[in-house]
Amino acid sequence: MSIRKILTYPNPFLRESAQDVANITGDTVQWIDDMVQTMYAAPGVGLAALQVGLDERIIVVDVGEAEEEEAERGKHLIRIVNPVIVEAEGEVVWEEGCLSVIDFKAEVTRANHILVKGYDPDQKEVAIEAEGLLAVALQHEIDHLDGRLFIDHLSRLKRDMYTKRVRKALREGRPIARDRDEDGED
Ligand code: NI
Repeated sequence: MSIRKILTYPNPFLRESAQDVANITGDTVQWIDDMVQTMYAAPGVGLAALQVGLDERIIVVDVGEAEEEEAERGKHLIRIVNPVIVEAEGEVVWEEGCLSVIDFKAEVTRANHILVKGYDPDQKEVAIEAEGLLAVALQHEIDHLDGRLFIDHLSRLKRDMYTKRVRKALREGRPIARDRDEDGED
């Protein structure tokens, strides 16, 4: 297993539409293991294949307690190939962040209860019912597979606060970081 580099906004690869996985091969399983390791190392609660430069419909999610012992790790791990949301109900607002959107968080409205179908790494069909944080994380990761980031769900004004900050940092050749003076957040 190895930790992969996570692509960050505005990398255009994050805007691709990922391809369906036709066969779950040894290579696929290797990639999934790398994604899991990369997610835990970040640390994050989810990761989509496009974020590590793989153009395939694969997501990994683990919303287990942050203070969980390392030995307990993996108990809540979900790995889905070709995930599809088949049912969505209700509404929930959650403050989201993303490993590909550096140093920015914002509230997003999503379905509170979903049913996701897909395949696990052993090629078995899986159906996962989720609500709350897990439902949010799954929708966030599945969005990635269609080139959508959580900032796309925000108002233009809110999104511009971030994209302008990123453009300015890139222009000045410095790392993207919160600039309190500039946007007056927090
Ligand atoms: Ni993300």
